[in-house]
Amino acid sequence: VLAVTLEVKDGNDTCIKAELLANLSVLYSVGNGTRMALMNLPDSAEVGKGSTCGSSSVAPMLVATFGNGHSLSLNFTKNMTLYRVDTLTVAYNLNDSTFFPDSKSTGTESVSTNLTGIQAQLNTTYRCFSASPVAMPKVNVTFTEMRMEAYMQSANLSKEETICTADASATTPAPKTTPATTTAAPTTSPGTPVQGNYNVTGSNGTCLLAKMGLQLNLTYTSTAQGKLVQEILNVQPGLVRASGSCGSTVATLSLTDELHFNLNFTFNLNSTTKKYHLGTISFDANMTDVTAPFHVVNNSLNYLRGTLGKSYMCSAEQTLLVNGNFTVNTFRLQVQPFGVNNNQFGAAEECQLDEDNMLIPIIVGAALAGLVLIVLIAYLIGRKRSHAGYQTI
Ligand SMILES: *[C@@H]1O[C@H](CO)[C@@H](O)[C@H](O)[C@H]1NC(C)=O
Ligand SMILES: *[C@@H]1O[C@H](CO)[C@@H](O)[C@H](O)[C@H]1NC(C)=O
Ligand SMILES: *[C@@H]1O[C@H](CO)[C@@H](O)[C@H](O)[C@H]1NC(C)=O
Ligand SMILES: *[C@@H]1O[C@H](CO)[C@@H](O)[C@H](O)[C@H]1NC(C)=O
Ligand SMILES: *[C@@H]1O[C@H](CO)[C@@H](O)[C@H](O)[C@H]1NC(C)=O
Ligand SMILES: *[C@@H]1O[C@H](CO)[C@@H](O)[C@H](O)[C@H]1NC(C)=O
Ligand SMILES: *[C@@H]1O[C@H](CO)[C@@H](O)[C@H](O)[C@H]1NC(C)=O
Ligand SMILES: *[C@@H]1O[C@H](CO)[C@@H](O)[C@H](O)[C@H]1NC(C)=O
Ligand SMILES: *[C@@H]1O[C@H](CO)[C@@H](O)[C@H](O)[C@H]1NC(C)=O
Repeated sequence: VLAVTLEVKDGNDTCIKAELLANLSVLYSVGNGTRMALMNLPDSAEVGKGSTCGSSSVAPMLVATFGNGHSLSLNFTKNMTLYRVDTLTVAYNLNDSTFFPDSKSTGTESVSTNLTGIQAQLNTTYRCFSASPVAMPKVNVTFTEMRMEAYMQSANLSKEETICTADASATTPAPKTTPATTTAAPTTSPGTPVQGNYNVTGSNGTCLLAKMGLQLNLTYTSTAQGKLVQEILNVQPGLVRASGSCGSTVATLSLTDELHFNLNFTFNLNSTTKKYHLGTISFDANMTDVTAPFHVVNNSLNYLRGTLGKSYMCSAEQTLLVNGNFTVNTFRLQVQPFGVNNNQFGAAEECQLDEDNMLIPIIVGAALAGLVLIVLIAYLIGRKRSHAGYQTI
């Protein structure tokens, strides 16, 4: 993702300038409940209608429009010393089925808040590289890598910065020339990823079946922060496209998120032993904050081992190490890369982790049964003794 640059002008004079990344999560209603849509402000976002440098009676406003009728608006106010974002408004178009499939409502909805926490000294740039979330009813906006100024005195952002508290309290970034060896922990944990269905259909019908939740764990050197950072990213099934190819001994599943990444899983079948395994993972991503595009490939993997005609299943979380900078965490996974019949998974072969998890209830159950037996025996012996004692009297 590239930081989006937005500029509001009055004639030739720039009054608001912002460079930022923004992620939005929007809760919306579908037939049987609610769903979460995840959007981010794309590079193609534009300064839209309603943007103004303001006047004595109108507050300056930056309206960023993007996609199919969505927008993010920031309305500024100031006093003698400070300026701040007075109101943040998000408008989203529920007719956009890319982000809101199966939405029960149609049309555009908008929400806003006055609690943005974004304020800076006049004539300085507000700087906040840390993720700063702003909550609204049904919508959360998280800004990162933000540099922004309103009421500008020149066309360029002021060199003087007002640094947000999150950045100030973060460990002081190391100089850019010597990347620190310490890794900044991800600021937010995204939780368990949603399970997606990813199938590959070849000339002979569906040849690869997969359902799984995927979480990517990346470590890279951030240019903005001048140090190694870690990013945990949940793959959003709604935002990726599955494709691939199936051969007799090699099958590939490709997941593509148009703007960001391409993740490939390649499975190999040994036709002698009739066993398959995940042999290669490759990952490419375009990121703003990194000097070179992120590229990882490892073709000597041996994960997800199964038997031809059967599926491999693992409900427990599994960590697939690709290299030191990239791992894939899988959740509630079932795959079958070869020998798929009628779009159905074959019999499932469970992973060791699941079997171990099954073992715990079995052991606990057995222990309880044993305890009951001991109590029963003790009772019977006790009863026999007291009975015997009674007879002697
Ligand atoms: C903006 O700048 C251009 C060229 O620099 C100039 O021709 C034009 O008159 C200016 N417009 C205003 C409103 O100042
Ligand atoms: C809601 O419907 C979707 C699609 O029809 C289905 O995948 C999902 O399981 C349903 N959820 C509930 C809670 O019934
Ligand atoms: C400006 O506003 C801030 C809070 O928004 C307040 O703390 C400060 O006292 C105000 N300054 C003046 C000069 O009014
Ligand atoms: C900001 O800059 C303008 C123009 O240089 C100046 O008039 C104003 O007093 C400055 N305000 C503050 C709070 O520094
Ligand atoms: C499709 O099926 C035919 C007959 O079973 C087989 O010869 C051919 O290799 C298959 N093609 C692919 C792409 O799997
Ligand atoms: C991500 O990877 C790092 C380094 O390999 C590891 O320390 C961390 O626990 C991982 N986090 C998750 C959520 O997998
Ligand atoms: C990265 O960006 C380039 C150019 O914008 C594009 O051609 C390429 O497909 C992108 N890669 C990924 C993995 O999205
Ligand atoms: C298939 O597995 C057997 C036994 O492990 C091995 O000897 C053989 O090299 C494998 N074949 C391929 C093509 O990997
Ligand atoms: C590829 O993965 C294997 C198994 O996880 C690992 O031992 C090896 O170091 C990896 N290769 C590279 C280049 O990271």
